[in-house]
Amino acid sequence: VPMNLLKHSADIINTGQWTKKAIAEHKKLGDTHVVASSAEDNFTYIPKIKQEDLSPDSDYVYICENNTIYGTKYKTLPPHDGKLLVADMSSCILSEPVDVSQYDLIFAGAQKNIGPAGVTLVIIRKDLLAENEALPSMLNYKTYADNNSMYNTPPTYGIYVCGLVFEWLEDQIGGLEAMEKINHQKAALLYDYIDQSTLYSNPVAKEDRSYMNVPFVTGDKDLDAKFVKEAKEAGFVNIKGHRSVGGMRASIYNAMPVEGVEALVDFMKKFESENTKG
Ligand SMILES: Cc1ncc(COP(=O)(O)O)c(C=O)c1O
Repeated sequence: VPMNLLKHSADIINTGQWTKKAIAEHKKLGDTHVVASSAEDNFTYIPKIKQEDLSPDSDYVYICENNTIYGTKYKTLPPHDGKLLVADMSSCILSEPVDVSQYDLIFAGAQKNIGPAGVTLVIIRKDLLAENEALPSMLNYKTYADNNSMYNTPPTYGIYVCGLVFEWLEDQIGGLEAMEKINHQKAALLYDYIDQSTLYSNPVAKEDRSYMNVPFVTGDKDLDAKFVKEAKEAGFVNIKGHRSVGGMRASIYNAMPVEGVEALVDFMKKFESENTKG
């Protein structure tokens, strides 16, 4: 992104692991301002910025729309008058309809909601595609646009599988409006249960909660470990939270059916009744 878009400086909102990495890479290439951060609260909310917080000379505002590890999501976009908006949508793309005209560049790895790892999707405003003699061809988005994404050999099998997923989304699910409804239903099942539970809690500010990644903790590290172990035995794999957050994390991407979330909530209830007194 900075190789293609950064002329003066970039404004980045730090919301966790993926923006931290973006900040580190940006710093190698140009002037980088961290205009807001929720690091002091372990990234449990999305910082709300004002236009005045932005740097006078920045070319764009960079956000990570859904923060996979911390379970936060932008529900409203930051102000960015006179600047481009760049979003990493790796962990929320295709989970809901998106008005792409609100953004100038969107990118996403395919591996959550689209298809196999190795395919990457970029949506960029056509007028931002530019010749750049200093840039290797393979790192210039214009090369991909000019060559129908086939300047080099693309990962054909991965793209074929993405095509099957797109057909599934349209023909069986009924498109992104329908997918969004299902995802909201799944997320509500989990959050509603966690919020009334005496054992589990979700640390994220309610208005910023992700529909894709739901972290939760018991508040007791040993009990968290017991949960992860027993969940695995019951068939719920990959439920351990990222080491920087601890506890558990239910990733409920498009491919997870409502029944899968219902089964998890049933398991959580059983575990709660077995592990709370009274
Ligand atoms: C939001 C987000 N951005 C970026 C990445 C990194 O993706 P990759 O490993 O394909 O570079 C991930 C991976 O989980 C992610 O969730």
